Amino acid sequence: MDSLRNPFRFGGEIGAKGLVDRDDETAQVERTIRDGGKLFLIGPRRFGKSSILRTASERISTKGAIILRVDADPISSIDMLVEEIVALSASHLKGKAQQVIDLMRKYFASLSLEVKFDVTAQRWSVTSNIQRTSEPSAAVQHLVDALDGIEKLALAQPASRPVGLIIDEFQRVIELGGERAEAQLRSAVQQHSRVGYVFAGSNTRLLSAMTSNNDRPFYRLGTVRVLGPIPRSDFAAFIIKSLRASGFRAPDPAAVDAILALSEDVPYNVQSLANSCWEELISISADEERILTLEIVRRALVRAVMELDPIYTSAWTKLTPVQQNTLRAVIRQGGKRLSTAPVVRTIGASSSTVHRALGALHDQNILRDDPSEGKVQMRFDDPFFAHWIRLRAMGFDRTG
Ligand SMILES: Nc1ncnc2c1ncn2[C@@H]1O[C@H](COP(=O)(O)OP(=O)(O)O)[C@@H](O)[C@H]1O
Ligand SMILES: [Mg+2]
Repeated sequence: MDSLRNPFRFGGEIGAKGLVDRDDETAQVERTIRDGGKLFLIGPRRFGKSSILRTASERISTKGAIILRVDADPISSIDMLVEEIVALSASHLKGKAQQVIDLMRKYFASLSLEVKFDVTAQRWSVTSNIQRTSEPSAAVQHLVDALDGIEKLALAQPASRPVGLIIDEFQRVIELGGERAEAQLRSAVQQHSRVGYVFAGSNTRLLSAMTSNNDRPFYRLGTVRVLGPIPRSDFAAFIIKSLRASGFRAPDPAAVDAILALSEDVPYNVQSLANSCWEELISISADEERILTLEIVRRALVRAVMELDPIYTSAWTKLTPVQQNTLRAVIRQGGKRLSTAPVVRTIGASSSTVHRALGALHDQNILRDDPSEGKVQMRFDDPFFAHWIRLRAMGFDRTG
């Protein structure tokens, strides 16, 4: 039995089989693509955006749709994204190589493409003879040309073959493309009716400002869906079921609830902590009962957090003393009332310095805004980092 595989996965995208909840969101992504709509899917990092996109893509592709899904996070220029989109488009076209090349040249005429099929790698390679440019609005124009090309491609498909363009971590495009990118992209996107667009992103401040301020070009361009946590009852049921499948028992609801609470409901952290609990359980001798208890959850948390000790240490030592104190205050205050005079005093800096520290911590993806009940509170992007800071203050006493 000890050769069982740990059922809790974190880090990669989850496909339809392992996805907990998110039925509404995946259905909405599918609908958007089928209807040639526009959707913004906005949520904190590690909440499951890419998993939703992947699941929806898989489902709608099996129904015959053409899905072009790209991740803007790793790109260093918009032209890279353009080439990726165009190569993906080519891979979906049917016919002999020369036919595909002719079609590509027709759809993407303004990009003066060189399309080749790499036989050994079994994929299309595309190079563009456009002048590579460091001028943002010229690069964004290439992207606009690519989007126009996809619309032409989509118009040539039968109605039963919808075409969707999914751009993950979309805020990167705006970061690279500069202020005018929004207006340039809007005017293209709003003229397209056959391609369904899904823009997903994590940088909630940038993306929510983009879609909710009426002076910004993307305002009301499409539907905005803000991704919240997975309902606890669903996640708890998944954890219990997965533990049972390995022959473990979880009779104490408080222990399962602790996994969700200590992870602040961030799906990545929930899976990571559940994974660590599983490792604790499998290490119990098979003669004994393997039961999830609060004690095991606590031990598993320390194990999961300390595995990341080198990363947290290096992140922590890069922070200024004021930033470190601000993080301690965020923990003490549960992320609330951080700019009030008494809290600012405990941090030991002026309120403008604290304000700047909060901004810098947000920009470094250490803290995020969590709007709820009409107020914005600050949360750790990675709740385990907060646990690490607490453990550190206790001298990493493992018995905590
Ligand atoms: N619906 C879900 N069900 C179960 N686990 C999930 C779900 N969504 C996310 N996760 C967990 O979170 C991790 C990160 O998910 P991902 O889709 O990459 O998030 P994002 O794109 O928002 O950063 C996954 O590897 C998985 O462990
Ligand atoms: Mg992602």
